[in-house]
This record gives sequence, C-alpha cells and structure tokens, in this order.
Amino acid sequence: MKDEFGREVRVFAPGSVANVACGYDVLGFAIDEPGDEVVARLVEEPGLRIVQITGDEGKLPTEVDRNTAGVAAHDLLKHLGMLDLGIELEIHKKMPFGSGLGSSAASAVAGAFAVNVLIGEPLTRKQLLPFAMAGEASADGAWHADNVGPCLLGGIVFVRDNHELDIAELPVPKDLWVAVVHPDIEILTKVAREILPKEVPLENVTQQIGNLGGLICGLIQEDYGMISRSVHDVIAEPKRQKLIPEFYKAKRAAMAAGALGFSISGAGPSVFGLCEGEASARKVGDAIQAVFSGVDLGNQLYVSKINQLGVRVIE
Ligand code: HSE
Repeated sequence: MKDEFGREVRVFAPGSVANVACGYDVLGFAIDEPGDEVVARLVEEPGLRIVQITGDEGKLPTEVDRNTAGVAAHDLLKHLGMLDLGIELEIHKKMPFGSGLGSSAASAVAGAFAVNVLIGEPLTRKQLLPFAMAGEASADGAWHADNVGPCLLGGIVFVRDNHELDIAELPVPKDLWVAVVHPDIEILTKVAREILPKEVPLENVTQQIGNLGGLICGLIQEDYGMISRSVHDVIAEPKRQKLIPEFYKAKRAAMAAGALGFSISGAGPSVFGLCEGEASARKVGDAIQAVFSGVDLGNQLYVSKINQLGVRVIE
C-alpha cells in the first residue's frame, strides 16, 4: 500500500434505538440521524493513531486503547495481523454522549468499518461485529449488540445471544417511522443498568416474552396493530423512567398523538415514539417536544424511517 499514502475513507455511522421497549439488550434499530463520522487514512509511519477528535468537548481519550473507535480498529487490525500498517483516525462526534442513541456504538462501528474499507474490505460487515462490540464494551463495560448490530447492518436487528453474537436481521415494515426526542440531560448507561433489578417476577418475564414475540411477529407480518400491542416494557422502563423528567407525561402525549408505542431509547434519556407513516411521526415528535419544552428542558427531535443502510462510506 506504499503508493497509497494519504488515501482516506470517511464513513458515517448512524445512531440507534436499543431495546425497542420489550427487547432489553436483544433488539435495536438504526435511525437516519444523528450519527458519527470517522476518517481512516493510510500513512507511512507504522501503527494506528488517533490524530483528531472533534465535537466531544474534550471528553474522549485519544489513546487508541481507551477510545471506542480506536479499540475496534485496533482489534480488527490485530485479527488481520496488520498492526504495523500506518493508519490515522479522525473521529467527528456528531451526537451527544449518554443520550441513549448508541453514541459509543456508532464510533466503534465507524472505526472498524472505516479501517476495513481502507484496507480493501477483507471482512464482511457481519464479520466486523465482534471488533465493534469490543470497541463499545471498552466504553461501558457491558456486552450487548443491540446498538452495534443495527448501526453496523442497518434495519432492525434481533440478538438471540449476545455472547455468541447470534443475530438476525428482521424485516422492516415500509411505513414504520420513529420520532426520537433527546432531552438535554445525560444518563450514564452504567448507572441506568445498575438501577435495574437483579431478579424479575415470572409474571413480568412472561409478559415481556409475549411482547417481544408479538413485536417480531408484527414486523414480519407488517401488522401495525400487533406492533402497537407489543411495544411495552414491564422490566426496565418502570425503573428507568425516574431518570427522565416528565416521562409519563411525554408517553401520554405521544400515545394521544397517535404513536403505536412509546418508550425509552436504550438506557435513555432519549425517548421514542414508534409510528405508522411520516405525518404521524412528526405529530408525535411535536407532542413529545411540547412536554419537555413545557418544563424548560431543551431537546432535539429526530424523525426518521428505520435506517436500512447502517454504517456507510460518505464523500
Ligand atoms: N440495552 C442497553 C441498555 C442499551 O438498555 O442498557 C444501552 O446502550
């Protein structure tokens, strides 16, 4: 690759909504925006380096082994026996930290994907999963593919087993839209995981399994009624809602505006309303925003179809 020094690849990795109410740690989908960008560049000096990070307010480490994109890229190169190759990474954070939108997953996916493209795509997208996972795990210590999976592959991803990384891509009904609202507070995933109960009543487990199965059936059969009846979380949401101001008011507003279902995006504080059609998603988004704005809580709305592309090369 000697003659190619200076050649670079820029990629965009989208945010994602993990859990989708009833699929704690096992279900997630990608959205169109926000997302992170990573540039990978071939250089003469051997080794992997992070040379620039923007949009992080100085919060992210530039040491490769402490940075989600760095760890993902490093582990991929190590696997390929290419750690001596000279590669510079630039990371451009375009989404808030601790937002529940899969920010660390997006950087990790972008790091692994950009390097893989730069070196001629020796691995498929799916084969990049363990490296992106390692990158994300370096941020929150947990091992769940419900953000990394959809960010990498696009669409709606179901994880049968997080350790085996046994995953399936689910069909996306053509009018399925989402309104995601990010209120301006930060919730650390670690904290949002620690407040969950270690044991759950059997009755709740049964209900949650029914809802998860129902949601998957609804997606496969494009049955919006079944989707709507299934998007309920009886395990994490009742505990985590306390971390989000006006959560139940926002939920009532979203449902009254016509959402199929409403819950917390990942570990929060972002919330989402699943909707049939764009007009409905815009109406639901406005209703959720009005609740947060009503208590002077700054917030951003992202209205999106389910993003079927996942991470991609951009100009
Ligand atoms: N499934 C994870 C959680 C997503 O809810 O903690 C957070 O990134």
